[in-house]
Amino acid sequence: MDSTQSLEQLESEMLAAVAAAAGLDSLESLRIAALGRKGSLTERMKALGGLPADQRRAAGQALNRLKTTVEQAIDARRSSLAAADLEARLVQEAIDVTLPARPQPAGRLHPVSQTVDECVAIFGEMGFTVAEGPDIENDFRNFTALNIPPEHPARQMHDTFYLPERDDGSRLLLRTHTSPVQIRTMQSQEPPIRVIAPGRTYRCDSDATHTPMFHQVEALVVDETTHLGHLKGCIIDFCRAFFELPDLPVRFRPSHFPFTEPSMEVDIGCTRSRGELKIGGDDWLEIMGSGMVHPNVLRAGGVDPDRYQGFAFGMGIDRIAMLKYGIPDLRTFFEADLRWLHHYGFLPLAVPSLVRGL
Ligand code: DAH
Repeated sequence: MDSTQSLEQLESEMLAAVAAAAGLDSLESLRIAALGRKGSLTERMKALGGLPADQRRAAGQALNRLKTTVEQAIDARRSSLAAADLEARLVQEAIDVTLPARPQPAGRLHPVSQTVDECVAIFGEMGFTVAEGPDIENDFRNFTALNIPPEHPARQMHDTFYLPERDDGSRLLLRTHTSPVQIRTMQSQEPPIRVIAPGRTYRCDSDATHTPMFHQVEALVVDETTHLGHLKGCIIDFCRAFFELPDLPVRFRPSHFPFTEPSMEVDIGCTRSRGELKIGGDDWLEIMGSGMVHPNVLRAGGVDPDRYQGFAFGMGIDRIAMLKYGIPDLRTFFEADLRWLHHYGFLPLAVPSLVRGL
């Protein structure tokens, strides 16, 4: 900036430069260039001393005015640049606090797993624990100990998968129901017994409502005083809790199973209209088999039938899952189709419980 420039020119140039400063750094450089120790205005101040005395005062006042104007312009520009800077940072660093803190897991629990968890929650609340047995069983526990002797017609009805014959001529099999877990439990623990046994079962059968592998849940209660009234109360409570219908009608119909005496099939109320099935209503749908444990079964499990008695029941897990969740075809359960699983599956973090909901 040359020293002969008029103060008006200098002022308009400086104010234009201040207005054009794009950032706080360039504004600071401008300030130093004008007002710093070697700045152009500072140099002019210093030069005042060389002026004739009669001009010094007016020139000094004019320079001071200019200095104040430039300082104010720089301060104003600094504030507006800082405000714009803050605004930009707020936009850039914005956090949407309305987003869920935990993203939903992509995986889903299979309806069979969900249904098992629900059964465990309901029976757990009643004081049952979970018992287990292997998928491969021997003939004794799957049939004979359950009061189904070798020539019994029930054996044909089970469409059993047999493993190859062993050296001693016996053949292991894939269990056709979860009832052999009754025998295992009685053999390994003393009454009082109160267990459920969910698990895989196998029968050589395949159509829209039968698959070669399916699931059952078995229940066994053995002690000195349990009677038919307990069986009925337990099953009615379970059905109403599971289907989440407190008034669901439940009916016990005389039937026959080799391992119970007396035996009953259990029906729940339903409504059938235009090919659709709804739970609840005054039509009937069979959902399980039950009865008082046969003395021969207690004996085979090493339990004294003159001292102990109890009840048992068993039902298809896949079947009650289809009924509760409106899944039309059993075969789709085992096709491992991720689209199906996403539609019918359950969020793994929503653990079923009677208190918080199934
Ligand atoms: N085991 C039977 C079946 O697979 C179901 C069953 C019926 C189990 C009556 C029981 C029972 O424990 O008491 O068809």
